[in-house]
Formats: sequence, structure tokens, C-alpha cells
Amino acid sequence: MDTGRTGTENSDVLVLFGVTGDLAHKMIFPALYAMAKRGILKVPVVGVASSKWSLEQLRQRAEDSIRCAGEVDDPEALQQLLDSLRYVAGDYNDASTFTALKQALNGARRPVHYLAIPPELFACVIEGLGQVGLTEQARVIIEKPFGRDLASAREINRIACSRFREESIFRIDHYLGKEAIMNILYFRFANSFLEPIWNRNTVASVQITLAEDFGVGGRGAYYETAGCLRDVVENHLFQIVALLAMEPPAYQGYGAVHAEKAKVFQAMRPLKADDVVRGQYSGYREEPGVAKNSDVETYCAVRLFIDSWRWQGVPWYLRSGKCLAVSGAEILVELKPPPQRLFDDSAPEHGRTNYIRFQLAPKAAIALAARVKRAGHEFIGEQRELFLLDEHADVQGPYELLITDAMAGNGALFTHENAIEAAWAVLDPVLAEHPAAIPYPPGSWGPKAADALIAADSFWHNPVAKH
Ligand code: BG6
Repeated sequence: MDTGRTGTENSDVLVLFGVTGDLAHKMIFPALYAMAKRGILKVPVVGVASSKWSLEQLRQRAEDSIRCAGEVDDPEALQQLLDSLRYVAGDYNDASTFTALKQALNGARRPVHYLAIPPELFACVIEGLGQVGLTEQARVIIEKPFGRDLASAREINRIACSRFREESIFRIDHYLGKEAIMNILYFRFANSFLEPIWNRNTVASVQITLAEDFGVGGRGAYYETAGCLRDVVENHLFQIVALLAMEPPAYQGYGAVHAEKAKVFQAMRPLKADDVVRGQYSGYREEPGVAKNSDVETYCAVRLFIDSWRWQGVPWYLRSGKCLAVSGAEILVELKPPPQRLFDDSAPEHGRTNYIRFQLAPKAAIALAARVKRAGHEFIGEQRELFLLDEHADVQGPYELLITDAMAGNGALFTHENAIEAAWAVLDPVLAEHPAAIPYPPGSWGPKAADALIAADSFWHNPVAKH
């Protein structure tokens, strides 16, 4: 498939706003190290932040981040990354910060600016860059969340588009760089057996679970501004829905994939308060940075409909939560039972109907479940899974892949303005009006009310525990 690459030149410097922050520590430095190991990090990395750090402090921080992420198995690559670092300290509201940055860029022509900073700061950073001429020929990487509702998403897009062309804006949703998620697109459209059943005639319901067995940790203050709906549903889970629900792209090229995905969001029915169950794990209010009376949800379950020819009437159930029983992510596409009940043990009374299961984490797997007869005189059987894929591939991590793509001007795995705004439009009503968050014990599967939400159509499939 054509990559959707825009522009021909690779970026000649990576500018990292928010270099002293959490995202840089957890994700970006380990990704840069992986790129250095592969020999594809050939440009200087200029960190920008308000802390008055020395370059040596930044190098120590980068090394610490890489050591926290795993063993340093290539000291030369680590040294190369550390040597490539530069640091500019300054306030984003101060024009002199951008003048100093320009000097540090030392005549680089095509910078990529990575905004690993809260969205409130996007406007002054983009404006500051523009004032000193650092947006021409440049690319910008914007981290999710892309706003906190439709209005703020529009504002962020307006600000970004005021200085960058759409094809130079790279909105990162790291789920799109995950191997198991890219495989959804491939599996759907590289096979012919799926298409005849992939619609309302055969699919009874679809459910997606993204479960995490840990809490918000040190991210309480951020999480208070987001909650589960904004943190993972509007982006990661909706992107998965779009890949599962989209029509076949009309031509070989990522432009067609983006167009079809956007149509899925446009066809989603806006959520109502009774489509959503919100939960909060007991103890959340004691986390640092969290309000003592917080109603922010650390769990949510959502019932969604896509009003398209293909999906009319098929319910989509999404759920995600912190402090759940296990960490894992799975999709279950449940098929309708046979039209006639010829055997006493037929589903659904005896468990699940046939299904296709995509396991996204901790391992990637695709399984197809069908009933087969048990040996013996009786017509009694059981559902067995046929494994089509079962692997723990040593692939590029999503951040490594996406940063490399953005630096090469390849927008295939990034999200687009129209899709983001259409997705917010679905969520907007329940951001304003929703049921209160129901407490649930850490280590459970969330509030019982979520079982009732799905009960008319199915029951939740719990992902398997990490092994
Ligand atoms: C991030 C969210 O975008 O995705 C986190 O901010 C969440 O709260 C994470 O834990 C999940 O990503 P992954 O790759 O660990 O499944």
C-alpha cells in the first residue's frame, strides 16, 4: 500500500518540546534509542522545556529513561543519542526562547517539532515558532488528547493549521503504530472470506476491551482533566472501531483509508447518557493530584451504533478501565447463531456463538471460533478456536515507528482533522451529561452496571491475564 508520504525530504532535526516531561521519559527517549540502534536516528535532537537544566542533566535524564525501559544492549547507540542532544531552556510565552531555539537549530531547514506538552500550550508554542520562521518547511507532531471536546479540538486544529499545512501535521495516536492494530486492516482486506460475513447479516455484536491492572500512578493531575472517555475511548478505541467498521478503501493508498475511517465516525450515532456506564476505582481520590470529591471516570463502558448500510442495528460495546483484574486488550466479533436450532447444545444458551477474536495485548493473536462435535453417539459439541496468528513479534514499538514516519513525512498512520472532529461529535453529548461514576474495587472488572449494559445482546469477554 502506498504510504501517503508527503514531501520528499527527511526532517533534519527533531525538536522536542516538553523534553523534561513524563511522555519524553516514558516513551520518546526509549523510541529514539531504538531508532539509534537501527541506525535511523541521524539528526540532532533539540530538547526544549522551561526547567533550567544543563545539557548534562538532560543527558542523564535521557539515559535514565532508556535504562528504565529495559536493558542497554547497545552502548554505542546510547552514546550516539546522548551526543546528539541539545537543550534550550525557556518559557514558551517568551519570544527569546524561540530565538534561542533558532540559534540551536543551526540553519536546519526542515525541523520536525514534537509537542509533547499539554494542549493549552500548543497555541503559544506554534505562534512562537511561526514568529521566528521555524514553521516554514517544518512538520509538527501533536500528541493526543487532541482537545477535550469538539470545540477545543476545532480550536487546536485551527491553531495548527494557521502555521502548518495539513500534510505537515502529524497527530499521534500510538495505537495506530501497533502491529496488532495494523493487522486489523490487513486481515480485513487481504482476505476474501471475511467480506461476505462482515456486516449486519452475520455479525450480532462487537465488543472491545482495553483493560489495565494498574491505576493512574503519577498521572492523577492529567487524568483529572481527561478521564477514561477522553483518555482512551475517543482515540484508541474509536480508531479500532473505525478499522473494523470501515468500507474497503477504494484504491491502494492511505488517502483512501483515511477517507473511509472518517466516514465511520460520521456515521456513528451520538452517545446518550444511558449508552454509558462510568466507574471510578476505590482509592482513586487518594491518588496525588486528584480531587477529594472527584467524579472523573477511571472506567467506562459504552454502547455504540454505526448508522451505515453495513452496520445498522449492530451494537458495538467498548470498555476500558484502570485497576481492573488484568492488563489486556481484545476484540470479539460475535456472529449470529444458525437460523435453525438443530442440536440441543447450540449456542447461545450454551455459551458464545461463533466469533472472531483479535487479541491485541499482551500478545497479538487472531482466532476464529466454531463449534465441532465431540466424539460419540450424541450430537454434542464444543466451541474451539482456530488460531490464525499467535505471536510475540519483535517489531518496532509504536513510538519508534511513528516518529520515524513523521520525520520522513509519511502520514499514513496518523489521524486527520475531519476524523478527530467527527469522533468528538459522537462523544460530546456524554461529556456534558452523564451518569455519576460508580465506585468499583481495584482488581475487579468494573461496576456491575456494565454487565447490564451489554446483557440484551451478549456478555463481556474478559481478556486473558498477562503471561
Ligand atoms: C495512553 C493513555 O494514551 O494509552 C494511558 O493516556 C493508557 O492512560 C495508554 O494507559 C494505553 O496504551 P498501551 O499501549 O499501554 O495499551
